[in-house]
Amino acid sequence: MIWAMRPIVIAANWKMNTTPADAGELARAIAGRTREPDVVRVICPPFVCLAAVRDAVAGEGIGVGAQNVHGELAGAHTGEVSAPMLAGLATWVILGHSERRRDAGETDEIIGRKLRRAVDGGLRPILCVGEQLAEREGGRAEEVVATQLRGALEGHDPAELARAGLVIAYEPVWAIGTGRNASGADAGAMAEAIRRVLRAAGWGTLAEATPVLYGGSATSANIAEFLAEPAVDGALVGGASLKPDEMAGIVARAAVTAAARRAAAG
Ligand code: PGA
Repeated sequence: MIWAMRPIVIAANWKMNTTPADAGELARAIAGRTREPDVVRVICPPFVCLAAVRDAVAGEGIGVGAQNVHGELAGAHTGEVSAPMLAGLATWVILGHSERRRDAGETDEIIGRKLRRAVDGGLRPILCVGEQLAEREGGRAEEVVATQLRGALEGHDPAELARAGLVIAYEPVWAIGTGRNASGADAGAMAEAIRRVLRAAGWGTLAEATPVLYGGSATSANIAEFLAEPAVDGALVGGASLKPDEMAGIVARAAVTAAARRAAAG
């Protein structure tokens, strides 16, 4: 069972919260309460807090990620940050978050270019996809997610992305920051649909090996519902990731799933 070998990943997306003065303390608090060796933990603070978080979690086995990266390496792009600038600061990066699609007009093509830079820069990508409420209600959720995926992945070599450790986060837009989470069953079905898209794009067994996370109002109270889905491999956590208690509960539950999958894999 190849799926049993996929890691369980809990990634914190702090969004536009924390400052360099307080991010280190929050990261240390989370690190101290989530020491579960079988769970891959990642904290993605704002750019200006990356150094503070990196220093705060040094030696804790926690990955540090950026929330965005530019699609070019350098040049006349005021206010932007390129992949080479993140060297030594981050080893992960969130790409294509729906808030950036909305606020910064990121298209699948732009996200595909960012993916190229992330991989070249040695950053492990968390590629976000997800439908709007009207699209789900119109029965088009899988089609929308498939289009986003195909658009961002076009021209990329599956083996190279797999080597880079690509993670896909299914984040239904209507569930983000709303307190209205998707059901575990919906997330599981979409994770399976995502792997079908990858297989259809020629990913073969790499589709089964690619972790798919759920994101959207994930909390310690509902995380079990998502991790009970064999196709779901963890969560991208926004609001709750700013609370050490919440992260402790989420990562503790993730450790249970990681242990169960390890046992099932023999
Ligand atoms: P939320 O955000 O958990 O606050 O809904 C999730 C995300 O946007 O990654």
